[in-house]
Amino acid sequence: MHYLAKTVAPENTTTQCLILGVFDGKQPGSSIDNLPATAQKHIRAALKKGDLGKASAQTLMLYSVPGLKADRVLLLSLGDRKTFDAKKLASATAAAISLLNKNATRDCVLAIPAEINESSSMYSAARDLVIAAEEQLYIFDQCKSKKDRPKKPLGKMTLLAQERKQMNIMKKALKHGAAIADGMRLAKDLANLPGNICTPTYLADTAKRLGRKSTKLKATALTEKQMQRLGMGALLSVSRGSREPAKLIILEYRGGKENSRPVVLVGKGLTFDAGGISIKPSASMDEMKYDMCGGASVLGALQACVDLDLPINVIGIVPSSENLPDGDANKPGDIVTSMAGLTIEILNTDAEGRLILCDALTYAERFKPAAVIDIATLTGACVVALGHHTTGLLGNDDKLADELLQAGEDIHDPAWRLPMNDDYRKQLDSNFADMANIGGKGAGTITAACFLGEFTKKYKWAHLDIAGTAWKSGNDKGATGRPVPLLMQMLLKRCKQAG
Ligand code: BES
Ligand code: MN
Ligand code: ZN
Repeated sequence: MHYLAKTVAPENTTTQCLILGVFDGKQPGSSIDNLPATAQKHIRAALKKGDLGKASAQTLMLYSVPGLKADRVLLLSLGDRKTFDAKKLASATAAAISLLNKNATRDCVLAIPAEINESSSMYSAARDLVIAAEEQLYIFDQCKSKKDRPKKPLGKMTLLAQERKQMNIMKKALKHGAAIADGMRLAKDLANLPGNICTPTYLADTAKRLGRKSTKLKATALTEKQMQRLGMGALLSVSRGSREPAKLIILEYRGGKENSRPVVLVGKGLTFDAGGISIKPSASMDEMKYDMCGGASVLGALQACVDLDLPINVIGIVPSSENLPDGDANKPGDIVTSMAGLTIEILNTDAEGRLILCDALTYAERFKPAAVIDIATLTGACVVALGHHTTGLLGNDDKLADELLQAGEDIHDPAWRLPMNDDYRKQLDSNFADMANIGGKGAGTITAACFLGEFTKKYKWAHLDIAGTAWKSGNDKGATGRPVPLLMQMLLKRCKQAG
């Protein structure tokens, strides 16, 4: 959908639908207070009838409202006036958009309530609104033979600003929101594709296609042979059990100064995780097609960097493989040698994410990173600890961790930090190798991070465990596109462009 910002009075906008906010189911918001008297009278009379629900996102459609140029007026409940904020506006508007998308309305106009007036909340209101709206409009029907799409989809939304300065803030916010939403869409599409279509090769081809979008973005993918020469014994041990060749996808976005150190994003790209010889139970195993969501979020974030032409250097690294049982697969007890030279005793072949990530993290050293952030659907334990709302965050640098926590907070893509120390790392001690790939009972998310921590000592590093947040199960099974918003907010802030 297209998003625009204009400085026109609501009564003078010609549109198929003007959206006006209402508080507590009856109190007209500021956007109604300033309408011509005839329009106000009509709207207040309609509100008096009491059909508009109090709860946020309830709607009431009015036709032929006098004194306005709009064909329709959609009254939109914004909930309680006292607790109203940018996030509430975004979610209520998204619901309205979903409704308008299903009826015959092709365009709409939203008068942003003056209750949101500081520039910073205006920025986040407009940005979050686009992200929430695109979330509502998202359809994944690539694999359906009959597409069931709205006959007359909503194609355009205009936000009304009170003055020029406000309009310019909105324009910037809409642009950022659209690029983040597009990045999330790419991440979701890749994630929702099944494992037989979205293979490591498919991910690599998608990255290469992105690379053709901009001269600032270079995409390559290392083959197994090249990885062998680099000594990536941990990564390759996982892919040995699969017939799909593994790839190490590398995206280099050079938008910043030539000598400025890049932020490196490393995403787990396990296109299907059956567990290997330590095979998973079959219930919900289909959801292990989502084990590449970290990698997909890296592709999504890099696409957004290109779209926004961000003045920063960002490298994306996506180790990609399948994890399947096979005569040539890893066996419990096998010992492999990582690119860093550390030997690993594989006590559980289902703890494969860390095996492919550790070699990618060693590879990241060559970019002399300012910071490395890995993103991975790494542990079921993280779902137990934090559920589906909050991403797990661990790392070796307090400043970087705080930066990511704040970015997540800013853009409603929250993370929570878990501790990491030597006591936990000792759980990885092995009788036969430098370390084991599992840490035994307790603190599975932390011991997984400790494993990665053995390979990230040379730079500032943070780890995002998105096992609970990357997709939804149940009736609305589907990828969420997280944590593309968190990553982009962090990068925009590094570029001093957020807000
Ligand atoms: N991809 C899984 C983690 C996962 C499981 C994410 C369920 C989301 C939902 C990962 O490769 C894995 O299997 N981890 C094991 C580690 C264990 C063997 C130490 C797990 O969490 O069970
Ligand atoms: Mn696994
Ligand atoms: Zn996995």
